[in-house]
Amino acid sequence: MRPVDSLVSARWSGLADAERVRSNSVKPIDSFARSGGVGPLRPSSPFSSPAQRCGPRAAGGRLAAALLMAGLAVAAGAVVAAQGRTVWDGVYTAEQARRGAEAYAQACAECHGADLGGGDMAPGLAGVQFAYNWHGFSARDLFERLRVSMPPDQPNRVSRQDKADILAFMLEANGMPAGDAELASRAGPLGAIQFLAEP
Ligand code: HEC
Repeated sequence: MRPVDSLVSARWSGLADAERVRSNSVKPIDSFARSGGVGPLRPSSPFSSPAQRCGPRAAGGRLAAALLMAGLAVAAGAVVAAQGRTVWDGVYTAEQARRGAEAYAQACAECHGADLGGGDMAPGLAGVQFAYNWHGFSARDLFERLRVSMPPDQPNRVSRQDKADILAFMLEANGMPAGDAELASRAGPLGAIQFLAEP
């Protein structure tokens, strides 16, 4: 994860979210980190080092923290503006999502549910909880998560292209609109698309 990404992630998901994710019974982030993946590693705290190094001590920690938050907000805003695209900008096609639905039914539905609502053991892949788990990460982070670790017994069973199609299907199921161009299966273009829970 580039430094800028982790800044944005920390800004968007927030420390409270990080706690929430950590305390989930399913622990998606922890288990993924264990599996050696590249995806949403635990967001690092933006406060510890910079505040200790250059925070105006005399003004007190609260002011320093407020200034830091303001700076982060500006930085995050600038990055989002520069990257431009989010999952709400029509980043897959309807045809791709249709293919993805087929691949999903074969490789994922037994655990995550035919309607992506989750099962006894596996979390849902559509809905508010899922969307906020990934809020502020990139489409690449999410892609890498399922590329590296799903299905759990044999991730290589499903091709890279099929996984991009499945991701398109997941975006559709989360209410994100289709567009004119397919979602890529390469890390570069996926990294330029931000996942936001809401438009
Ligand atoms: C054998 C059951 C099983 C199958 C099949 C399976 N998964 Fe999973 N999946 C899980 C479990 C259990 C978790 C949560 C624990 C973990 O991370 O391993 C999970 C977690 C996930 C997550 C993270 C969810 C979150 O909110 O962070 C995603 C994304 C995901 N799976 C996608 C897929 C996709 C796409 C497929 C099909 C290619 C698939 N899974 C197939 C069991 C399964």
